[in-house]
Amino acid sequence: MKKLFCFLVVILAFTQAAFSQSREVKVLNANWKFQKGDHAGAEKVVFNDAKWQRVSVPHDWAIYGPFDKNVDIQKVAIVQNGETVATEKTGRTGALPHIGSAWYRNTVTLPKDVKGKKVILLFEGAMSEPEIYWNGKKVGEWKYGYSYFYFDISQWAQEGNNTLAVKLSNKEFASRWYPGAGLYRNVSVIIKNEESIDQWGQFVTTPLVTDAVAKVNIKTKVSGENTRLLTTIFDADGKKIGSDEATVPFGQEFDQNIKVETPKLWSPESPYLYKAVSQLFVGDQLKDENTTVFGIRSIKYEAAKGFSLNGKVTKFKGVCLHHDLGPLGVAVNKAALRRQMQILKDMGCNAIRSSHNMPSFEQLELADEMGFLFLAESFDEWAKPKVDNGYHRFFEEYAEKDIVNLVRATRNHPSIVMWSSGNEVPDQWGEEGVKRAKWLQEIFHREDPTRPVTVGMDQVKATIESGFGALLDIPGLNYRVHLYDEAQKKFPQGFILGSETASTVSSRGIYKFPVVQEKMKQYPDFQSSSYDLEACSWSNVPDEDFVLQDDKPWVIGEFVWTGFDYLGEPTPYDESWPSRSSYFGINDLAGLPKDRYYLYRSRWNTKDTTLHILPHWNWEGREGQTTPVFVYTNYNSAELFINGKSMGVLKKNNSTPQNRYRLMWMDVKYEPGIVKVVALDDNGKAVAEEQIQTAGKPHHIVLEAERKTMSADGEDISFVTVSVVDKNGIPCPTATNQLKFKVSGAASYRAACNGDATSLEMFHNDTMKLFSGKLVVLVQSKTSAGTAKLEVSGAGLKSGFIDLLVK
Ligand code: GAL
Repeated sequence: MKKLFCFLVVILAFTQAAFSQSREVKVLNANWKFQKGDHAGAEKVVFNDAKWQRVSVPHDWAIYGPFDKNVDIQKVAIVQNGETVATEKTGRTGALPHIGSAWYRNTVTLPKDVKGKKVILLFEGAMSEPEIYWNGKKVGEWKYGYSYFYFDISQWAQEGNNTLAVKLSNKEFASRWYPGAGLYRNVSVIIKNEESIDQWGQFVTTPLVTDAVAKVNIKTKVSGENTRLLTTIFDADGKKIGSDEATVPFGQEFDQNIKVETPKLWSPESPYLYKAVSQLFVGDQLKDENTTVFGIRSIKYEAAKGFSLNGKVTKFKGVCLHHDLGPLGVAVNKAALRRQMQILKDMGCNAIRSSHNMPSFEQLELADEMGFLFLAESFDEWAKPKVDNGYHRFFEEYAEKDIVNLVRATRNHPSIVMWSSGNEVPDQWGEEGVKRAKWLQEIFHREDPTRPVTVGMDQVKATIESGFGALLDIPGLNYRVHLYDEAQKKFPQGFILGSETASTVSSRGIYKFPVVQEKMKQYPDFQSSSYDLEACSWSNVPDEDFVLQDDKPWVIGEFVWTGFDYLGEPTPYDESWPSRSSYFGINDLAGLPKDRYYLYRSRWNTKDTTLHILPHWNWEGREGQTTPVFVYTNYNSAELFINGKSMGVLKKNNSTPQNRYRLMWMDVKYEPGIVKVVALDDNGKAVAEEQIQTAGKPHHIVLEAERKTMSADGEDISFVTVSVVDKNGIPCPTATNQLKFKVSGAASYRAACNGDATSLEMFHNDTMKLFSGKLVVLVQSKTSAGTAKLEVSGAGLKSGFIDLLVK
C-alpha cells in the first residue's frame, strides 16, 4: 500500500511538473474595470478607466436593476402563441436594464518567454455582439451572446502587461426572455507551445462498449512537426488503466484506441468518469498536456424501442432550463447550478435541455458528475425572425461557426446524448426551412457522428407536410399532445420526443377558487393557482403528458417547460406590469419547490416515497366554503382527514388524466385545524401519513441552510431558506413580512429572492418581503477561512441566526 502511495505521489509530481512546463491557463476573474456606455477610445491601452467600476467576472451588469417597465417594451403579437393583434408586452425580457453598450477592461500579465508561444483568448459566452481588443488592436468579434469562441492572439501577446478591452452591445427587441448582459461566463488566456494540442482539438468516443471491454477512441488535432502523443487513461481513483503512444499523425491528427477492461459505465444512476491525459512530445521534450474527462457509455435510438443507454431503454424525465440563475442573473455560478441540479435529482429528473442555447461548461461538468442526460440546444431562431433583432441577423454568416464551436467545445461530455439545432423556428414554414434543417443537421453530423439531432417543433402539421420533420434524426414535439399519434404515424423515425411539454403555470403557495381547469387564466393579483390546472392556450397540464409517456412506448420522454422559473416571459401576464418573470417553473425563481414539484416527484422519483398535501390550511374567511384538497403521491390510494373526520378514501383511476395521477378531494369545506392524509397500500393498510396545520400569527424566523460549509474560494454560495413560524413552530404559509439580512464574518450577503413574479424589490438589496411565507438568502464565501453568520430580522418577529463554516 505504502509503495502504491509513493508511486502515486511520483506520478502526481510528474504530471504537475509536466503541466507547468507545457501550458498555462489563466482564468481572468478578478480586477476587471466596467462601465456602461460607448466610451470612445476605451479600446486603447492608454485610457482613463480610474473611475470605472471594479467588478469580477462572471458578471451580469443588468441584474442590479432597477426593474423598469420601460426597458425593452415590445409592442408585438407573439405569433407562436397564436396572437394576431400586437399588444404592449412589459417584462418580456425581464424589465432589467440590459439594453445598450458597455465596456470591460483588464490587464493581463504574460510571462517572459511568451514570444514564440501560442496564446489563445477564450470566451465561454459574452452577451452580446462582443468586440475584442488586445493592446488597442481589434483581434476579433462575435455576434451570438451564447456562443463559446476563441482567438489566437499569439502575434499580439507581449511579455508583461497587456490590455484587454471588450465592448458588448445589446439591442432592444433581441430576445423573448431575459438574456442578461455582460461577460457572464469565464474568460481565459491559454499559453502553450507552438507544438501543442489544438483548442477543442480532442474528441474522445467509445465506439465499442460491452460488459467485458470498451474501446476508447481518441482523436487529437495538433500543431507542430515531429510530434508524438502519449495518451493515458485513468479511472476515477486515479489508477492507470491503459495507454497508447502514437507517432504517426494523419494530417495533423492522431488517432488512438485504448482498451478498458470491465468498464464502469456512465449513467444517471452511476455517473462514473474516466480521464484521458494526453501528452505531446517532440523528441523527449514534453510540449503540451491536456486532460479530458469522459465517460464510457453507449446510446442508441431505435424505432419502437426508443432511446437506450447502455442497452437499457431509458425515458427522458427531463426539464428545460433557461440560462439565468434567478437572483444571480446570468452570471454563471457553479454552486447555484449544483443546487438546482440537486433539487432536480431529488425530483427524479434525469435529463436537462439547455433551452434555447448553448449550456455553460459548468453545467455540463455537473451533468457529467451528477448524472443527467443532456440535450444541448443551439438556436431559437434561424433565418426567419421571431423578434426584430434576434439571431436571424447573424444566421447566414454564423450558424455554422456557432454549431462547430458548440460541438467541438462540448462533445466529450458523456451527459450530452442529443443536439438540438433549433426551437420552434419560424423556418418550419416553407421549403427554405427544410433545406436549412438538413444543412444544420449535417453540420452536427460532420462534427459529431455519434449523436442525433432534434428540433423542437410546434408547427407539427406543417412539418409533416413539408418533410421537415421526417428528415430529423429525432422528431421533437413541443406541446401538441393531440398530434402525437398522427406524428408517429406520419414520421418515419418510429418514435417521438416531447422536446417541450406542459407549460403549466403556477405561483408558489397561491391557490385560487373555484378549482377548475383554465387556459390563460388571469387574476387581479397577477398570480396563477398552484392547484396545477392552469396552462396556456397552446399548452397543457402535466397529467396529459403523463398519459402519453405511460401509454405510448414510442414516446421517448419529455422535457418539461421549465424546471425553474426564469426572468422574463411572464405569461399569462405578458401585458400586466409588474409581472417580470415566468410562472412556468416546477420550482420558483428562488429554487423553492412549488406543489408541482411533488407531482413530478411522485412519478419520476421511483426510489423515495412522496406524500404531499395542498393547498396550505390558512384560509381565514373561507370557513364552510369548498376548499379542495389534493395529494400528490406515489401511493395509489389514501384517506383524508380534516380535524380527525374522514373525507373518504380515494384511489387513483383512469377516469380522467387528473384522477389517474392525483388524489383530489373536491368537496372539502374549510375549517381551521389539521389536514391529515394516510396513504394506503393495495390491501387498504395504512403505510404512511403526512399532515399540515393552520398556523397562528407569525412569531419567529427560521433559517435552514442548504449547505452549512462552503469553500473559501470567494465564489461558493450557500442558499438559506428563510421562513416564519407561529409560536408553536407551525409555518405561516401566507406571511409577507418585510425582512432584513445581515451577513458577517467569512462570507458576504449576495442576494435574496422570494419567487414572487411581480416583486420589484432588487435581489442584491439587503431587505425583501416574504412571499407565501418564504424566501431564500444567498450567502457567498470570501477567500479566507472562518465562520460566517447570517442574521435575519423583521419587525415584531424574533430574529433568526445561522452559522456557516467557510474553509
Ligand atoms: C414555447 C417556447 C418556449 C416558451 C414556451 C412558453 O413555445 O419554445 O421558449 O416560450 O413556449 O410556453
